[in-house]
Amino acid sequence: KFHLHPKALKLASDGPLGKFDRQQLQRGFQVYKEVCAACHSLRFVAFRDLEGIGFTKPEVKAIANQWAIEVPAINPDTGEATTRKAMPSDYFPSPYANETAARAANNNALPPDLSLMAKAREGGAPYVHSLLTGYRDPPADLPADARPGPSLYYNPYFANLNIAMPPPLVADGQVSYADGTSASVDQMATDVSAFLVWTAEPKLENRHRTGVAVVIFLIIATTLAYLSYRNIWADQK
Ligand code: HEM
Repeated sequence: KFHLHPKALKLASDGPLGKFDRQQLQRGFQVYKEVCAACHSLRFVAFRDLEGIGFTKPEVKAIANQWAIEVPAINPDTGEATTRKAMPSDYFPSPYANETAARAANNNALPPDLSLMAKAREGGAPYVHSLLTGYRDPPADLPADARPGPSLYYNPYFANLNIAMPPPLVADGQVSYADGTSASVDQMATDVSAFLVWTAEPKLENRHRTGVAVVIFLIIATTLAYLSYRNIWADQK
């Protein structure tokens, strides 16, 4: 009764002919970098993959080099576990050393890896967008046992209504976009959702292109088959 289905969200990558809006993906990356990366990893995405959304090699190198979270490493002299600066070949690291540390920092909840989030949850990118913009006060008629407990937040788009993630996007202008797009909460949520579609399926455009070629081929093949059928049976009418 209280749970809501995701609101519609239109993205350039939608539909069988959809293509990514790279400008938007870069904005979404900025939101991930400045907001989400404080808690969420992208362990299936490497820094160098950012070339796919229009960053140059030197830009990727600079991003990896300035990444706030260091990646786990082994000290070559002592053999002890340590951290080092990220390189383009590294994957977006978790800000936590391990699950115990992650849970300790989040009231025992675990911030999931976001790489495949747009595929993992029913509802995909519209779900992520609705979740990010869906925080509100619990309705008055919500039963007491469904009300958010300590350190939980009411969100009707989340499966069990109360989520451990504090609202990450709270103020317009929380990030300053380089391309001048006005960073409303809704815009930031849309952009990061578009970015997570890309992280979950960076080769989406290839799939769409292949689909178009396959359909054209099938139309031609069907036409030829039909014409040859007519030809073969022409004198049997
Ligand atoms: C869960 C996205 C920022 C902590 C999630 C989920 C998504 C998400 C999609 C999964 C919800 C589900 O299970 O269906 C994002 C995005 C962020 C962001 C796009 C940036 C805009 C943050 C930040 C924190 C955080 C900054 C830490 C302060 C968590 C935690 C969970 C979670 C603890 C697990 C919630 C639970 O299971 O109750 N986030 N997040 N997130 N996130 Fe975030």
